[in-house]
Amino acid sequence: MTTALITGATAGIGAAFARRLAADGHSLVLVARDGKRLREQAGELHDRHGVEVGVLPADLASDGGIDAVGARLNDHAHPVDLLVNNAGFGHKGAFLDVPVADELTMLKVHVEAVLRLTTEAVSGMRDRGRGGVINLASVAAFVPRGTYGASKAWVVQFTQGAARDVAGSGVRLMALCPGFVRTEFHQRAGMGTGNIPGWMWLDADRVVEAGLKDYAQGKTLSIPDPRYKVINGLVKLAPRGLLGGVTSRAGRKYGPQYRAK
Ligand SMILES: NC(=O)c1ccc[n+]([C@@H]2O[C@H](COP(=O)([O-])OP(=O)(O)OC[C@H]3O[C@@H](n4cnc5c(N)ncnc54)[C@H](OP(=O)(O)O)[C@@H]3O)[C@@H](O)[C@H]2O)c1
Repeated sequence: MTTALITGATAGIGAAFARRLAADGHSLVLVARDGKRLREQAGELHDRHGVEVGVLPADLASDGGIDAVGARLNDHAHPVDLLVNNAGFGHKGAFLDVPVADELTMLKVHVEAVLRLTTEAVSGMRDRGRGGVINLASVAAFVPRGTYGASKAWVVQFTQGAARDVAGSGVRLMALCPGFVRTEFHQRAGMGTGNIPGWMWLDADRVVEAGLKDYAQGKTLSIPDPRYKVINGLVKLAPRGLLGGVTSRAGRKYGPQYRAK
């Protein structure tokens, strides 16, 4: 029996990971801030799939929260075989609209927590000679789109670099880069989504299925949908200067709409 620890497990992509991994027979440790929601979800998954589901309420924007999850990953008597660093959020507004303190909170969750938890997990996994980490990035990592995109670009670079450094140890790492996924993400950030064409939306369960398939194949980067693979191929061909203008215009036309403060 293997154990997976999923951060941001109560909603969206994290909840889809929890459903899928429980259905596949993995024991789970679920992390998010809302303890009541975590306990309800753990009960449902246990009743439906008969697997052990533990909960660890923690705020990954705080040192205490990161420490608590790190300590669980460091508990060698109860090893975690798969870490899914999924917790994350967006901000409404462009650069200068978002308070710097909020941007720093995003960096804490998207960068510092991912760095520290990946480090805690992989050191034990390397000693055991097996295990893996899936870090949630985004296709926003590949275009110049503010702190969110920059934090996800860090996730991609860090994950692929670490994967190379531990190659041959039995530990795998993969960055998962979805496009728009129907979750609570945009609503939580106060972003309107009416301008995003229907064809651009992905289903969280399908994202997870495709991501886990890529992970099983040993990929270090997964873009879990053919539409976004094509878009990303075009993005790679575009000159950097042009890309900023095009993605900014396309973002204004088709991207999430920021409500006035
Ligand atoms: N939806 C998209 O279009 C999309 C596209 C590409 C990448 N992503 C990435 O996918 C990941 C999951 O996003 P989602 O769309 O599934 O979002 P979501 O539906 O809003 O779910 C976010 C999850 O993260 C948890 N969370 C948020 N802040 C946290 C914190 N400080 N500490 C601990 N847990 C926290 C939330 O639970 P609590 O509120 O209880 O803490 C919730 O379980 C994120 O990293 C996001 O950047 C999303």
